[in-house]
Amino acid sequence: SRNIRLAVIPGDGIGAEVVAEGLKVLEAVGTKIEPTHYDLGAARYHRTGETLPDAVLEELRGYDAILLGAVGDPSVPPGVLERDLLLKLRFEFDHYVNLRPVKLFPGVPTALAGASAEQIDMVVVREGTEGLYAGTGGVMRRGTPHEIATQESLNTAHGVERVVRFAFQKAQSRPRKKLTLVHKTNVLTFAGDLWQRTVDRVAAEFPDVTTDYSHIDAASMFFVTQPERFDVIVTDNLFGDIITDLGAAIAGGIGLAASGNINPERTTPSMFEPVHGSAPDIAGQGKADPTATILSVGMLLDHLGLHAEAAKVEQAVAADIAERVSGGAGRSTGEIGDDITARVSG
Ligand code: NAD
Ligand code: IPM
Ligand code: MN
Repeated sequence: SRNIRLAVIPGDGIGAEVVAEGLKVLEAVGTKIEPTHYDLGAARYHRTGETLPDAVLEELRGYDAILLGAVGDPSVPPGVLERDLLLKLRFEFDHYVNLRPVKLFPGVPTALAGASAEQIDMVVVREGTEGLYAGTGGVMRRGTPHEIATQESLNTAHGVERVVRFAFQKAQSRPRKKLTLVHKTNVLTFAGDLWQRTVDRVAAEFPDVTTDYSHIDAASMFFVTQPERFDVIVTDNLFGDIITDLGAAIAGGIGLAASGNINPERTTPSMFEPVHGSAPDIAGQGKADPTATILSVGMLLDHLGLHAEAAKVEQAVAADIAERVSGGAGRSTGEIGDDITARVSG
């Protein structure tokens, strides 16, 4: 089989540190992989003023997949790299599914006293191209006491339906076959109504999937008090952003949370990245946990149809994690990467 052409965007802060470990594992698992690194992020921005040049965007279109570390740096105004680099990639490549598993591996210490691995095994299907991330709105009388700032949530019938349909398919493929819409229909009456009607309509095509609904505020509480309520969650872009950091916290921490920005039609390369950011507070110290990136590499392999390799990565991570309880703490980024690499090579 031909080589997998992979674009690698290490990005900022711990991005480069964790991506290096992800690549180690990818190479060790026995895939024919051809990585090309792209220098995008704060350094490039300071040097040239560029975030994502059009020519680079077009070049990226030609890859089989993208692996990204993280972007964002305290030396760059908030939003510049997040919006013009990361969100631009998600939007331009129509990554309308942002897939974020929330799964507690056996043996992992969790913030929830007494929680067990069977109770926390869900997948958040976060919409990736619309909602409050659309960037519509504006500001009037900026800097005056009468300043007015608006930021609108864009929700289209097409955009909601396609992500909801994906979430139903995902739910159908899992043993519990349960889908929960998470929104705020009691206040966001225009957008919430569109989401709820869409779920109700698409549900008719999936008679074996059970559906229910939870407001985002209550869902946040249930994540902590009764996480076993959830199997597959479908939600909008911002709610999905927030609830998956909470999901990370209940499933062993942000250093373990993986994600895929997916274009299910495969007309563009999908992009895999840890849920966490560039962590400027620990960057450059070898303290970052690369596990989230390694699990994202597993999702990448799965997306490319390399299911055996994907399973191998997940099993290696599960085994590594299980040993952390019994004294595996205190390892550096590179040591964790090496240990997981040794397991996939063995
Ligand atoms: P963050 O996820 O970078 O960090 C939050 C906390 O989690 C920090 O204390 C950090 O040290 C810790 N942490 C994160 N990843 C870790 C890891 N792998 N191992 C151990 N600890 C880890 O979020 P933040 O501080 O809110 O944001 C920092 C920057 O990252 C901002 O510029 C933000 O916009 C950006 N960001 C980027 C992405 C992305 O590229 N996908 C995601 C989130 C935030
Ligand atoms: C994430 C991040 C991004 C988001 C930011 C950096 C734009 O928080 O991937 O979760 O909000 O989606
Ligand atoms: Mn986030």
